[in-house]
Amino acid sequence: MFKLIDKFGRKINYLRLSVTEHCNYRCFYCRDNKYTPHCKREDILSYKDIERIVQLFAQLGISKVRLTGGEPLLRKDIYKIARIISHVDGINDIPLSTNAHLLEKFAKKLYQNGINRVNISIDSLIPKKFEEITRGGNLTKVIKGIDAAIQVNMRPIKINMVTMRGVNDNEIESMIDFAINKGIDIRFIETMPIGSSGIKILTHYISEKNILTKINNHLNNKLVPIASSDIDGPAHNFKIMGTNSTIGTISAMSNHFCQTCNRVRLTAKGDLILCLGQKNSISLKDALHSNLTDDQIKNIIINAINKKPEKHEFNSVVDNISNRQMVEIGG
Ligand code: GTP
Ligand code: 5AD
Ligand code: SF4
Repeated sequence: MFKLIDKFGRKINYLRLSVTEHCNYRCFYCRDNKYTPHCKREDILSYKDIERIVQLFAQLGISKVRLTGGEPLLRKDIYKIARIISHVDGINDIPLSTNAHLLEKFAKKLYQNGINRVNISIDSLIPKKFEEITRGGNLTKVIKGIDAAIQVNMRPIKINMVTMRGVNDNEIESMIDFAINKGIDIRFIETMPIGSSGIKILTHYISEKNILTKINNHLNNKLVPIASSDIDGPAHNFKIMGTNSTIGTISAMSNHFCQTCNRVRLTAKGDLILCLGQKNSISLKDALHSNLTDDQIKNIIINAINKKPEKHEFNSVVDNISNRQMVEIGG
């Protein structure tokens, strides 16, 4: 039964669930170099908490649960989390957003435990630049992670490239060729001013329009638009004719997709974030750790959804965006 419709008529069917604030990379647009998560083990939702809260969300109509972080593969019980979610009635899509550093080792077991597909961040195919952007990441390991995901048949596999003028916009073409050669999908993401590092990177902002011009020049009009369904993420997608790949752009800054927003986020600490670009959140961990019944918690969720803001306020940034780092929210 579908119960999560906000006051703007948007159906919420997609939960982004962060399982840890820790990350083994330090991408400079995502987190401050000095930032270290303070949370202790007891601060974050246990797999039992996750099982119960996902069951309640599913009873309210959520059918897609994306596992995010930080880096979700750092969480020791990630297989168990995947497995319990895959057994929840009503959940039929459990994708993972990862930097793929550990994916080579984990891909098969993740797939066996219900992770049907992955989105992988890669911002450069030049090892030195990749290392600089991620502050210490290892491109070879990430590519091995992608190959492992291909081998176990996770599908689709999407590469996310945060596109930054003067940093990596000269690699749009090589990144497309890389995706086509591997037979996987690729999305180009406009930088978003989330947290201090996201605000700093705005000086390298490049718009979807300019990204698309470069894409079109490279592909000679081989793009055919794909209509999105009401469960999809925010990308505008195109099929690349004559290949097995699709290409997408995610344009939170130049093109508000808020009117079709279908998602909320739950942080590792159990805070329900109603909009990526707004401050308000509600602690579901407190609710889970009190003696509330399932119905009472479901009512808290329904009331929270009713407070979902109409849109983000990135365009009036600096004074509006909270101090939360992207790495704490899970993208
Ligand atoms: P699919 O389910 O494969 O379509 O994935 P997705 O695009 O929903 O997830 P992913 O984790 O790969 O996110 C890609 C980019 O989209 C990240 O930079 C996210 O921050 C951004 N994104 C996802 N949802 C929202 C949103 O509600 N608002 C904004 N502004 N950006 C979002
Ligand atoms: N702007 C845009 N995308 C970002 N991500 C992290 N920080 C930002 C930002 N400031 C992306 C990551 C990852 C996804 C989950 O969020 O690159 O692909
Ligand atoms: Fe880690 Fe992903 Fe943030 Fe990079 S973008 S620091 S890989 S959470």
